[in-house]
Amino acid sequence: MSVARGGGALSLPKFRHNVAKRIGRFLLVDGGVNTGISNKKATKRSKRIRSKADEEGKDLVRWMCEELKARQVAGTEKRELWSMYRRLTRGEPLAYILGNVPFGPLARLEVRPPILIPRPETEEWTERLASMLIASPAPRSEAIKILDLCTGSGCIALSLFSHLTKHRQAEVLGLDKSRIAVELARRNAHSLFPPQQSQSASKVAFEQADMFDFDPVSVGGPFDVVVCNPPYIPLDQWEKLEDGVRLWENKAALVGPGETGLGFYKRLAALVKSGGLLRAPSSEAKGKRRPAIVVEVGHDQAEKVRDIFKGTGVGLDIEIWKDAFKVQRALFMYHQ
Ligand SMILES: C[S@@+](CC[C@H](N)C(=O)[O-])C[C@H]1O[C@@H](n2cnc3c(N)ncnc32)[C@H](O)[C@@H]1O
Repeated sequence: MSVARGGGALSLPKFRHNVAKRIGRFLLVDGGVNTGISNKKATKRSKRIRSKADEEGKDLVRWMCEELKARQVAGTEKRELWSMYRRLTRGEPLAYILGNVPFGPLARLEVRPPILIPRPETEEWTERLASMLIASPAPRSEAIKILDLCTGSGCIALSLFSHLTKHRQAEVLGLDKSRIAVELARRNAHSLFPPQQSQSASKVAFEQADMFDFDPVSVGGPFDVVVCNPPYIPLDQWEKLEDGVRLWENKAALVGPGETGLGFYKRLAALVKSGGLLRAPSSEAKGKRRPAIVVEVGHDQAEKVRDIFKGTGVGLDIEIWKDAFKVQRALFMYHQ
């Protein structure tokens, strides 16, 4: 969920500007849209753009061009391209313009404003968790039960479901307070895993629920694994976010309650403490490093969140996991 993304030398507004210019070049030169700008002028401009654009920009443009090819653009659809270009130059996030993002094993996960666009760092820890769950033996007679709190587009739940069902029976439930998010997650489930094609007993479902007002048992708990990427940005930091995030993505998906933005972790820790949320590991699974809880955290929150969970007195080993940019990005918690 971070916006300060590593790896690129450019600030995000400048980076987006470059991407927009490069897509403009595609439309003007390769796409053949008649804009009144001569090819000579466009090519001259494109050379300048190409030399300036950074690697990440090139990737995004390639991604966009692939999307355009996949849509077999012809005739009147060029107008649609032009409109995509204009939306990009106005600062709309590329993922919303394309309408989908890849996430782990999911090639096309639908996204739409204002539901949070899944972030690469979330994808990274989700992939790690999936590998760990696949490697650890689940109780043979039962499905592994997973709860995804604050599910948004359903990216984490659907990705885990996709991975796990190839290996074992899984029951995945995603909850979100936002009705629009739940509708989107359900639509994603339906298009990625059409019910008529399902041959396994595995299930994935999404329900509307407020994390501050729900009882784990009433939604089917306890669960073997609970994951959560909650809103965690403190209000004063949200106010400084770049426009592409602040003006387009739901504030309620980003801002965590309290001065430090840690309100959701406190609530989750209280749920863990009160019981009914986590299933005790079976004797078969004991001793294996199978995460029971995974939460994503803000870049400077890992230790504070670890203390919140330690304070519950529930026996958990807590590992702070760093993402590809060496940022403390998630806590993996294991039954002791
Ligand atoms: C940071 S987004 C995470 C979305 C998705 N899991 C992801 O990783 O892309 C947080 C989500 O929490 C949801 N949310 C906000 N307040 C909530 C609450 N009180 N109870 C449940 N969900 C809530 C928002 O609607 C949003 O979809």
